[in-house]
Amino acid sequence: MAKLVVANWKMNPQSYKEAELLAEKYGAEAKKHKNVHVVLCPPYPWLTDMSHEKKDRLEYGAQDVFWEDPTSGGGAYTGEVSASMLRNSKVKYAIIGHSERRCHLAETDAMIRKKVTTALHAGLTAILCVGEPLALRKKGAAESKKFVGAQLKENVRALDAKGALRLIVAYEPVWSISTSGTGLSELPEDAAKMISFIKDVLRAKSGLKDPKVLYGGSVNAKNVEEFLKQREINGVLVGGASVRPEEFVKIIQIAASV
Ligand code: PGA
Repeated sequence: MAKLVVANWKMNPQSYKEAELLAEKYGAEAKKHKNVHVVLCPPYPWLTDMSHEKKDRLEYGAQDVFWEDPTSGGGAYTGEVSASMLRNSKVKYAIIGHSERRCHLAETDAMIRKKVTTALHAGLTAILCVGEPLALRKKGAAESKKFVGAQLKENVRALDAKGALRLIVAYEPVWSISTSGTGLSELPEDAAKMISFIKDVLRAKSGLKDPKVLYGGSVNAKNVEEFLKQREINGVLVGGASVRPEEFVKIIQIAASV
């Protein structure tokens, strides 16, 4: 089964020229490996120019999307971007509910649920992020599961199995994300256990038969192999390392060889 390697560039790089150089390198590498899907999620100022150019086998994703869509009767909100605009710009994916948005921009489960529904309705694949904060993790695996289980139930509530077909979940423990956490990555075995639990919840709540779940949080060229060796983990969501070209190329190569 092909692995999914998603690059979350966050607010990087600072110029289109640099973004193009990264895409050229990653496109050239992705072309060599049929068993890896590489999805780039650049910031909005670069995203649609890049998705229209679409290099080699790369696919594109947004880092967020709004829940109203004028195409399906929604309003037009200043500063926001609709799922239909993304679809019409050859963007296939949207990251939704990233912990930086949940924790720093007060994004709630209710908002995230609306975003997931709208994105799926417009034909995007939603990459829904879930993960527990450090304080909960310190209380043990059972507390973390309770928290992530509740996030999932809230975020995928009312999705039917057909709607959920294009749903991917990314398990990203908040404390493991380099910009907002401790910079420590989860142990691959522990990530696999949580991901197996997430898949059970998805099967029960959305009727999905074969849910896809990624791991994210301080993934780099040194640890990616151990994560991808876990049968339950279908791919990785990579932040910081995805704008370090030599390292991300290595990550693609390792994903192809696992
Ligand atoms: P990181 O970010 O790889 O820099 O920890 C992952 C993410 O925020 O999605």
